Amino acid sequence: MPVITNIEDLRRIYERRTPRMFYDYAESGSWTEQTFRENTSDFRHIRLKQRVAVDMDNRSTRSTMIGEDVAMPVALAPVGLTGMQTADGEIKAARAAEKFGVPFTLSTMSICSIEDVAENTSKPFWFQVYTLKDDDFMRRLFDRARAAGCSAIVVTVDLQVLGQRHKDLKNGMSAPPKLTVKSVANMMTKVQWGLGMLGTKRRFFGNIVGHAKGVSDPSSLSTWTAEAFDVSLDWDRIAQFKKWWGGKLIVKGIMDAEDARRAADIGADAIIVSNHGGRQLDGAVSSIRALPAIIDAVGDRIEVHFDSGIRSGQDVLKAMALGAKGTYVGRAFTYGLGAMGEAGVTKSLELIHKELDVSMALCGETDIHNVGPHILYVPQGFGDPTVPL
Ligand code: GLV
Repeated sequence: MPVITNIEDLRRIYERRTPRMFYDYAESGSWTEQTFRENTSDFRHIRLKQRVAVDMDNRSTRSTMIGEDVAMPVALAPVGLTGMQTADGEIKAARAAEKFGVPFTLSTMSICSIEDVAENTSKPFWFQVYTLKDDDFMRRLFDRARAAGCSAIVVTVDLQVLGQRHKDLKNGMSAPPKLTVKSVANMMTKVQWGLGMLGTKRRFFGNIVGHAKGVSDPSSLSTWTAEAFDVSLDWDRIAQFKKWWGGKLIVKGIMDAEDARRAADIGADAIIVSNHGGRQLDGAVSSIRALPAIIDAVGDRIEVHFDSGIRSGQDVLKAMALGAKGTYVGRAFTYGLGAMGEAGVTKSLELIHKELDVSMALCGETDIHNVGPHILYVPQGFGDPTVPL
C-alpha cells in the first residue's frame, strides 16, 4: 500500500482505479477549463503569516455550520454520479462524513437515492436540489427529503443551463455507462470497480429514474438539464422553494455581491460562494477571489460558505481567514472515494483536518473561530478581478 500524504496522492490512485468516463466527469471544467484551474491556483497567491512562541496546546477546529456542530468547517459538497465512482458511493461517502462529524450533501443527480442514504446512515444529511420546472417533482423531492430526515436543502442556482464539458461529450458519459468498444475496453481494466458495480443494484440516477416524468433519456445529464431545468428561474422561485421546504435552506452558486444580497433578502440561512468547481461559466473569476467582496456585502447578515478549489487544509484555513463560516470539498473527497471507497473519504478528511490543524497552529492560533485576515498576506486587489495578480 503506498504511503498517502496528501490529496494529490489520492487523485493519482483514483485515476488508475476508475473508468475514464467517470474520472473525466469529475476532473473537468467547462470549455477551456481556465476557471477550473484558477480555482486551485489562485489559493497560492494568498500567503500565511507564521507566528512563534504561542502555546499550541488545546487546539480546536470544531465549529458550526447553519447551527449544526461540525468537527471542522468542511462539508462534503453535492457531487453528481458519486455512485459511479465506486459502487454505492454516496452511502460510503455519507458514512465517512457521519463518522468524522462533518455534513454530507447528497446531490439530486446521485446514484443512491435519498432513501438509500437515509437507510444506511443515522444522522441527518443535507440534500441538494436543482431548480426544475416540474412543481410536482420538486414538491415530491422536498417530501422525500423531509421523510428521510434531511436537515437542510441546498439549492443550486447556477445550473439552469449546462456549461459544456468537452470530455463528457467525447466519452458519451451517462449512468449507467453506455457500452461502446472503447468504454468496455477501459472498464475491463478496472477490476475492483467492476466487481463492486456487479454487486450493487444502484446503477441509475436513484432520485430521478421512476420519479420524474417526461424526460426522454434519464441516463444523460445533458438531456436531463435541457429538458427538466427551469430556464426562467428567478428569486421569487427560490423564495417559493423556501416556503415549500419550510426548513433550513442554503443557496449554492453565488459569485456576485448583489446576488448575495438577494439571497439574504429572501431569508436563506446561508449562501455558498461557488462557481460550481469551474464547471459552468468558464472565464469566471475563481471562487476565492470572489469571496472577499461577498463577505463585505453580506457577511454580517448571512452565513457565507465557500466552495470550489479546496484541495488542502491550508486552502480551508485561507477561506476561513477571509471570513467564510464553512467550506465544501467535492473533488477532494471524490478522489478518496474512487481510490479507496469509504476509507478513502475518511483519509481525505483526515488529511485536510491535519493540514488545517497544524497550519492554524503555525499561524499562532489554536481555535478556528479566531482565524482572520491577521493570519494572511493577501495581494492588493486580490478581490478585484480587474486587477491582474
Ligand atoms: C452537475 O451539477 C455537474 O456539475 O455535473
